[in-house]
Amino acid sequence: MSIHANLLLQEKEKCYAPPSMLLQWHITERCNLRCTHCYQDNYARNELNFEDLLKILAQFKTLLATLSKRRGKRLHAHITVTGGEPFARHDFLDLLEVFVAHRSLFSFAILTNGTFIDIAMAQRLRQLAPCFVQVSIEGITATHDSIRGEGNFAQTITAIKNLRREQIRTFISFTAHRKNCHEFPKVVQLGRQLKVNRIWSDRLIPWGSGVQLREQLMTPAETKAFFEIMKKYRDKWTWFNHTEIAMHRALQFLVGDGQPYHCTAGDTLLTVQPNGDLYPCRRMPIRVGNLLETPLLQLYDTSPLLQKLRHPEQVSEGCQNCFYAKVCRGGLKCLSYAVTGDPFKTDPGCWL
Ligand SMILES: C[S@@+](CC[C@H](N)C(=O)[O-])C[C@H]1O[C@@H](n2cnc3c(N)ncnc32)[C@H](O)[C@@H]1O
Ligand code: SF4
Ligand code: SF4
Repeated sequence: MSIHANLLLQEKEKCYAPPSMLLQWHITERCNLRCTHCYQDNYARNELNFEDLLKILAQFKTLLATLSKRRGKRLHAHITVTGGEPFARHDFLDLLEVFVAHRSLFSFAILTNGTFIDIAMAQRLRQLAPCFVQVSIEGITATHDSIRGEGNFAQTITAIKNLRREQIRTFISFTAHRKNCHEFPKVVQLGRQLKVNRIWSDRLIPWGSGVQLREQLMTPAETKAFFEIMKKYRDKWTWFNHTEIAMHRALQFLVGDGQPYHCTAGDTLLTVQPNGDLYPCRRMPIRVGNLLETPLLQLYDTSPLLQKLRHPEQVSEGCQNCFYAKVCRGGLKCLSYAVTGDPFKTDPGCWL
């Protein structure tokens, strides 16, 4: 194999392995949609200019270099870039070009609502070669459109087809709650017809507009039943039907008999907001600091919240006697935070 082909293969393999440092970067809060479950309810707050985005990228590189040195091995790093709707920024593709130039340091992926992905954009994305592009499907047409807006289901399907035609790895994200969880099998069927590479699902977190859907949060019994449906469809996967059902979110391993999972927020997941604020996770909106005021490495090292989140012995209140305490550590911390005001309390959806 040529050196070039070998390098490409190594990069592709990096896309499949879980990163040891993931930066989720929300570059804008602007969006052309107004989904009923959205964790935002403001779509016009300050966002950084391109120069400031580059400053943040430089800080991320410093963090990677420092942690790699401390650990004596190079970190496998990844950036998922999102919003809001990332394509709503006119300089989004310029930022992706910068990421391409850094491919040896980190891989990258895009989370989008898909509405900007016509044939030409899919061709452009193919050249940029992200690890994957994720779009969102919330159920069958009527359910999806009632959440994302009339006609959006058809638009999203078109985006998926455009992406798959260009052989771009395409994921579907399904945000589960009482109104749509029973439609997951239909989404799996659709995803398999469209040959998407992966479907994954996490639970609704009641922030922003999503607060209105608080009543739709699944009970512990409903959560378990939903994960069992996921497992049933995951187990129907075969190598020739392309679509993997991923079950590596909080509590899913309890029914999925997969790798034990604990929430990575603040540990191997850090999130930057459009104005440069640092959160452990977008769904755990606790401001650790702002990167235009304090460098990322300093916040990573000194924030008591990040230190607590990544402490290997940290186990949430109410979970101490659980058999899975050491591997699960409390489930979905952002849900605990949204529901109880404390991320270090047992996942409200846990049935154990
Ligand atoms: C905020 S979006 C950003 C990308 C793009 N705008 C989209 O909607 O796909 C990323 C993912 O988070 C999901 N999401 C939005 N609000 C949520 C909430 N309150 N709880 C859980 N997931 C949410 C979206 O459905 C989407 O799959
Ligand atoms: S969920 Fe995504 S597409 Fe929907 S309003 Fe929020 S940011 Fe926009
Ligand atoms: S009781 Fe706590 S540690 Fe045990 S599975 Fe539930 S959330 Fe995880």
